[in-house]
Amino acid sequence: MRQSLLNERTFLWILLLLYAMGCIQSIRCKPKSFRESIIVLEVNSSIDSNPTSIDESSSVVLRYRTPHFRASARVLVPPVADKETWTVGWIQACNHMEFYNKYGSKGMSSWELPDLRDGKIQAISDSDGVNYPWYGNTTETCTVVGPTKKDTKFVVSMNDNFYPSVTWGIPVSDSNVPQLTSIHRDQSFTTWLVAINQTSGETLVLQTVRWRMQLNIDVDPDKSLGKRATLREPLVQEQPQVLGKNEPIPPNAMVKPNANDAQVLMWRPKTGNPVVVIPPKY
Ligand SMILES: *[C@@H]1O[C@H](CO)[C@@H](O)[C@H](O)[C@H]1NC(C)=O
Ligand SMILES: *[C@@H]1O[C@H](CO)[C@@H](O)[C@H](O)[C@H]1NC(C)=O
Ligand SMILES: *[C@@H]1O[C@H](CO)[C@@H](O)[C@H](O)[C@H]1NC(C)=O
Repeated sequence: MRQSLLNERTFLWILLLLYAMGCIQSIRCKPKSFRESIIVLEVNSSIDSNPTSIDESSSVVLRYRTPHFRASARVLVPPVADKETWTVGWIQACNHMEFYNKYGSKGMSSWELPDLRDGKIQAISDSDGVNYPWYGNTTETCTVVGPTKKDTKFVVSMNDNFYPSVTWGIPVSDSNVPQLTSIHRDQSFTTWLVAINQTSGETLVLQTVRWRMQLNIDVDPDKSLGKRATLREPLVQEQPQVLGKNEPIPPNAMVKPNANDAQVLMWRPKTGNPVVVIPPKY
């Protein structure tokens, strides 16, 4: 008993000594660099719990609206010494895309990102197409123009969801005869909270979030409009993951083209060659 008490006391002393040494060590260290002083005070990320809603009000297309992915962060930027400009905000890229619309035995249409599909690139920018590399320039970014004397604190936030239209009829035909039988979608994204020195272009990754949206809809084209579609599992999406270790941003996540401009609508018949229905904008 006594022995173990002594041991415990010795142990505490050693701990205290080590702690003191650590303090002395850190005092000796040179001051923290600016990159170490940008602090993410809080990060929230989620996908809304509501299921995808389906709209059959049009006789030409089925529309659906998925729940929103949301990310927000409270950030502290320390005093900026010189006339430097730092922008902090969200950058998003798509890593994987399956977006298939099946038309029974006839074939399927599919939205594709050819370079991603063929493994030529790891990810493609999901910027708004104007404010590269940023996802947007309203709530998504904040710019701190130096010199500033005090800390600057702010929140940057973003959201994303899908609300496409899928034709009831086969896209390569002129007929509106409903033949759509199912929709399958599985897309993965990486979303980074980033600080960029506008003078040097130096890019600091502050946080990395991964998320996925999965969707399955069965359609009975023989039923009357309004009664055709049924949402299948998963009804509730997997929640995003805020990674413990940041991931580097692949080059194509930062530059043109974005996913919207690069995507192609293909018609892939059961027999015969695939046809490009809508070519890329880029
Ligand atoms: C994160 O979520 C909590 C709880 O809903 C909220 O109080 C806080 O303001 C949020 N922070 C940010 C940066 O959005
Ligand atoms: C955001 O970008 C648009 C398009 O480039 C531009 O017209 C607008 O002024 C920008 N807004 C802000 C707040 O920077
Ligand atoms: C930002 O970039 C400029 C130009 O390269 C450089 O002089 C400055 O030190 C950078 N700022 C920080 C805080 O790293």
